[in-house]
Amino acid sequence: RTVYVNGEYLPETEAKVSVFDRGFLFADGVYEVTSVLDGKLVDFDGHAKRLERSLNELEMKAPATSDELLEIHRELVAKNGIDEGLVYLQITRGAPGDRDFAYPAADVPPTLVLFTQNKPGLADNPTAKTGIKVISVPDVRWGRRDIKTVQLLYPSMGKMMAKAAGCDDAWMVEDGKVTEGTSNNAYIVKGNKIITRELSTDILHGITRAAVLQMAREAQMEVEERAFTIDEAQSADEAFFTSASAFVMPVVEIDGVPVAGGKPGPIAARLREIYIDESR
Ligand code: PDD
Repeated sequence: RTVYVNGEYLPETEAKVSVFDRGFLFADGVYEVTSVLDGKLVDFDGHAKRLERSLNELEMKAPATSDELLEIHRELVAKNGIDEGLVYLQITRGAPGDRDFAYPAADVPPTLVLFTQNKPGLADNPTAKTGIKVISVPDVRWGRRDIKTVQLLYPSMGKMMAKAAGCDDAWMVEDGKVTEGTSNNAYIVKGNKIITRELSTDILHGITRAAVLQMAREAQMEVEERAFTIDEAQSADEAFFTSASAFVMPVVEIDGVPVAGGKPGPIAARLREIYIDESR
């Protein structure tokens, strides 16, 4: 694989970042994951805008303009021959000469890293036909989940708790309500109505979420942005999640309780189809 580090395209075995990099020492960094379908980036502008917002919230300087980042994304997709897959981008606050809690001086450049992940069959994922099982876990993350930081230890722990329970993912719960999945936004369907938590600092403002809700409204489906409980999700007509890496994915079991007989529902299937069609 060819990867990108601070202005250079290199074989992955030759790419290097300092041991003092603040991403490594303090999780002081932000990231984006953009999907690739038919060799083309999906919703790059949305990801670029959210990246800019994450950087601003953390008073971090952008190492490149959105146009430059687009060029790097395209170059990596071409160099690695990606037809279906993902591009991962990470910006950390760079590497001062030593470990120090305070941010480094303004002349320390941020570290910019990008790499691709080849995922043939991303659109035609057979799991979308069977759905996935989730467990609920308490949401103990920090309070600024709207910033896409690389602090992903708790989401990783959630995934591991799910795997230990024979499931695929975890939905996090705070004050009795679902916030989001470990790496996705959560939804339920009641009748013709799609319900998903409203935007706030409690969740990541998903780029796939924004696109899917817009497409749902255009298809005359009703959308209600509010939080829901695990109980409500277990007795809903459908449950599903969205993310750049899974698009729209049905959820068929929550904490051991089958949702709608344990079969993926028609609304999730339709939204997945519309989303993938419109993204091509
Ligand atoms: N995760 N919520 C969380 C906590 C996420 O980490 C993600 C994305 C989403 C969905 O956002 P989007 O639709 O913009 O991908 C929601 C990425 C895919 C990841 O960490 O791999």
